[in-house]
Amino acid sequence: MTMSAKAIIVAILIAGTLSCIGCTSAPPTQPQSKPAATISKEPFGTKEGIQVDLYTLRNAKGLEARIINYGGIVVSLKVADRNGQFGDVVLGFDNLDGYLSPDFIKSNPYFGALIGRYGNRIGKSKFTLDGKVYTLAANNGPNHLHGGIKGFDKVVWEARPLQDEEPSLELHYLSKDGEEGYPGNLTVTAVYTLTNDNELKIEFTAVTDKDTVVNLTHHSYFNLAGKGDILGHEVMINANKFTPVDSTLIPTGELRAVAATPFDFTSPTAIGARINQDNEQLKFGKGYDHNWVINKPAGELGVMARVYEPTSGRVLEVLSAEPGLQFYSGNFLDGTLKGKGGWVYQFRNGFCMEPQHYPDSPNKPDFPSVVLKPGETYKNTIIYRFSTK
Ligand code: GAL
Repeated sequence: MTMSAKAIIVAILIAGTLSCIGCTSAPPTQPQSKPAATISKEPFGTKEGIQVDLYTLRNAKGLEARIINYGGIVVSLKVADRNGQFGDVVLGFDNLDGYLSPDFIKSNPYFGALIGRYGNRIGKSKFTLDGKVYTLAANNGPNHLHGGIKGFDKVVWEARPLQDEEPSLELHYLSKDGEEGYPGNLTVTAVYTLTNDNELKIEFTAVTDKDTVVNLTHHSYFNLAGKGDILGHEVMINANKFTPVDSTLIPTGELRAVAATPFDFTSPTAIGARINQDNEQLKFGKGYDHNWVINKPAGELGVMARVYEPTSGRVLEVLSAEPGLQFYSGNFLDGTLKGKGGWVYQFRNGFCMEPQHYPDSPNKPDFPSVVLKPGETYKNTIIYRFSTK
């Protein structure tokens, strides 16, 4: 090797950009006080012989997301607290084996994953479209949950890192006609971006070649303190109504007022403040596991929920144009899974905020429609915005 070739390699190693795909560096005249926005890639294991990669996205302010192309899973998300200390605010595993283990598949928490073709439940695993009855895979008692036995959370997506001032990862998946019982070849794209406003943004689009139903969402479990239970987190949800459920967590069809119930989060309230009240809906969910009807015109991007964690000062805002928000307080976590750093995930150690259409919409003609037809494009943008106070 010539001296000049060696010098180039050494320079690359020192810059630490060996696997950096599309790094955006500050102009050389500017002081390097802020880290540059970057995206890098490394192998994370194999699933059924297919390579799974881990992509590390970092924005210019230090916000860092590690995302794999298996299930589009957000493996870690490092966010600053009020003292500027970065900490991981999502539940998950250090390696692919954690996501493939029999215990994980059995308890099915969907840590950090993209959810599809239908987020949440479809009652009795059946729906009728254009006069035809479709029977879906039943994977939650009699019901169909989060796309079935092998939903979008359990497939390897094709990945493409995008070069821009903000790092993005574009994921593609073709869900074939008949997969898990759904009609139509559905071509899905999900783009993750870390914006310079300290947001993790997910932009979904999908097209079909036959009439079908679609409801895509994201399933990170947040814990803004990075430890313990989430009962002290203060939640605001911009909703005057929610959709009560039956004992199998299928909406009854009613839109019920939250006023004077433990479901009223119109003013910030600690998750734990009312979660153990004697209330039939809380019993059915083992806590909060319901869809809130967001107070804004469908199709208008806006703040659905805000969560504040007092010890760290971290604030999470959830934005989307979807009509509903599933707020799930981690009631099925039971201490069987050991995650990152040896943390054993106990009851209510994380919560999910899933912007989406209402559960069981294909069987509820009065709920906003989830039907997608050929020639139309499904769109859903979800933003998780972080700040401190
Ligand atoms: C949530 C759902 C819960 C539970 C959880 C996964 O989205 O509302 O009922 O299924 O996913 O464990």
